[in-house]
Amino acid sequence: MTKIVNSWNDFDPLKHVIVGRADNSVIPPEEPATSEKVPVDSEMRGMWGPRPTETVEKANAQLDNYAKVLEGLGVKVDRPTPLQWNQEIKTPDFRTESGMTQMPPRDILLTIGNEIMASANSFRCRYFEYLAYWPLMNEYFEADPEFKWTQAPRPRLTDKSYKHNYYDEKITLEERLVRTANKDFVTTEAEPMWDAADVMRMGKDLFIQHGLTTNLKAMEWFKRYYPDLRVHSLNFPGDPYPIHIDATFVPLRPGLIINNPHRPLPEDQRKIFEANDWEIVSAATPAHDEPPALCYSSVWLSMNCLVVDHKTVIVEESEVYQAEQMDKLGMNVIPVPLRDAYAFGGGLHCATADVYREGGCEDYFPNQAGDTTLV
Ligand code: GLY
Repeated sequence: MTKIVNSWNDFDPLKHVIVGRADNSVIPPEEPATSEKVPVDSEMRGMWGPRPTETVEKANAQLDNYAKVLEGLGVKVDRPTPLQWNQEIKTPDFRTESGMTQMPPRDILLTIGNEIMASANSFRCRYFEYLAYWPLMNEYFEADPEFKWTQAPRPRLTDKSYKHNYYDEKITLEERLVRTANKDFVTTEAEPMWDAADVMRMGKDLFIQHGLTTNLKAMEWFKRYYPDLRVHSLNFPGDPYPIHIDATFVPLRPGLIINNPHRPLPEDQRKIFEANDWEIVSAATPAHDEPPALCYSSVWLSMNCLVVDHKTVIVEESEVYQAEQMDKLGMNVIPVPLRDAYAFGGGLHCATADVYREGGCEDYFPNQAGDTTLV
């Protein structure tokens, strides 16, 4: 029997992965969820439309090279089927002028055991992004009789799903951080909404960032859908734009996590890690002062690495401080250039989605200390 899909965490030996593509990527027009994601001082504000062809070509060249490096490590690599994103997105509930991309599969696909689930993203422009992965899902479905091909409940994304007048260009960084600390985000609790990149998978435990792209109702939904798993809500009050956990809190191997020093995990939420002898290390300073042009993400994509196995990690080639730290932490570091692809949706981890890692559903946190499960 062919087993295609299996992955319970981000560090067991990687054997099969999806790497995104930049083709047809569009900077989407503003909408209730994205207006908060684009930093106020970003040159992307007020700008939308297809991304320049030469940037797409450069990004694809690096993504293709990344795929080759992975294949050289014995990892099977699949690629999505690009759609034309420069077209209107319309449902009975909303209309927006364009889609976005199929560069970061990590935002869309969540692999838990033998299941790959398409997420319930809060951005209207991302409503049909899953379609780029459906040909692969169909292949896996035909080949692997145990593969569970799933779509989370589709959010309606009506105006009720967002706080209106939340976006305020005059708000200071300090005020923005107060909002994060108060768990005051642009999305409401009208329906479950989540990006797969907010979910850190750790065997029996799912640690999910509550922020601009994932709400508490999503966590309640996860609890009911996966009754055998434990669902934890994490907050990172130092992040003015809390979106996706993988530039903030990144496991390298069982027992070791790097944490963005500007976004430390609060004391009460650290307890579960400490009680189970996990070490939380502050990540190294990024090598860059600014993200690349037209990029949604911060310089902390420096942390956004892909762990290949408990001893091997791929780090972006220019992130010399992060590479040095990983080396000191006992990892073999493989540098791969990907900065030209950052603007299309993130770094090395974002640009992939797990299909198969060795290993099973381990219990890394038998001592359920702290109050992260109170969702
Ligand atoms: N949340 C992704 C970043 O820090 O850029």
